Amino acid sequence: MEKKKITIPQLKEMKRQGKRFKMVTAYDYPFASMVDKSPIEVILVGDSLGMVVLGYDSTVGVTMDDMLHHIKPVVKGAPHTLIIADMPFGSYNVSSSDAIANANRIMKEGGADGVKLEGGSTMVETVRALVQAGIPVMGHVGLTPQTVAQLGGFKVQGKEAEAALKIVADAQQLEEAGAFSIVVECVPEPVTKLITEKLSIPVIGIGAGAYCDAQVLVIQDLLGMFDRFVPKFVKQYGNLNGLIMEALQQYATEVDTGIFPGPEHSFGMKEEVLKKIY
Ligand code: KIV
Repeated sequence: MEKKKITIPQLKEMKRQGKRFKMVTAYDYPFASMVDKSPIEVILVGDSLGMVVLGYDSTVGVTMDDMLHHIKPVVKGAPHTLIIADMPFGSYNVSSSDAIANANRIMKEGGADGVKLEGGSTMVETVRALVQAGIPVMGHVGLTPQTVAQLGGFKVQGKEAEAALKIVADAQQLEEAGAFSIVVECVPEPVTKLITEKLSIPVIGIGAGAYCDAQVLVIQDLLGMFDRFVPKFVKQYGNLNGLIMEALQQYATEVDTGIFPGPEHSFGMKEEVLKKIY
């Protein structure tokens, strides 16, 4: 049976029925096409693209143009998968009208089905304005990479009671503002459990333990392609880095030693034509 694009109401219904769903990131046509053929329901065109594709040290430098450049091929490659795209840093923290204008571009020019933005209570008015403008919004609390400087680094959030309760309250306020789901990143499992129990919208965990309605991973992490660092919460389901390095090494050796290209990869010429040029 052909995969059918899941809808936002269906994701909410899955939570009601206690069914889990899966989300991974993708940033280009080939990976989006592969995810589209898999049972994964949602693609996130994450601003993590700054780190895993563009080579930046953080996600802060990612621009609207970067995002649109990557959203378009993902949308083309994955017509049967719900596609949510990150609003990059600077595209929603100026004003609500600015946020709406940028989210409109992500949906109209990019073709995404909705947007994700980071932040809790401070983003409530922006989320409300976006939702009122007809834009589906996924929230993101806990470790919010765009504000990593304020957080003091990529580390677990909500380890103390006050901080934990603040994250729970942030998530509740985002739900009240109209977010259709919330990513919870890098928080202790009991905090996620509390959020998942309190919210009626799906909670999507990354480094947040098992008590979520869904999980998300960065595809390069999942496939073992990003070797600058591997966070504790990442499970590598493959070692593409190793496979790619092996293939490159073999190609280099075969070119150096004249094994490649062999006759099966070369084009010949008719004898009479050959005589005229030699
Ligand atoms: O940008 C991203 O890939 C994300 C995920 C880590 C949730 O926000």
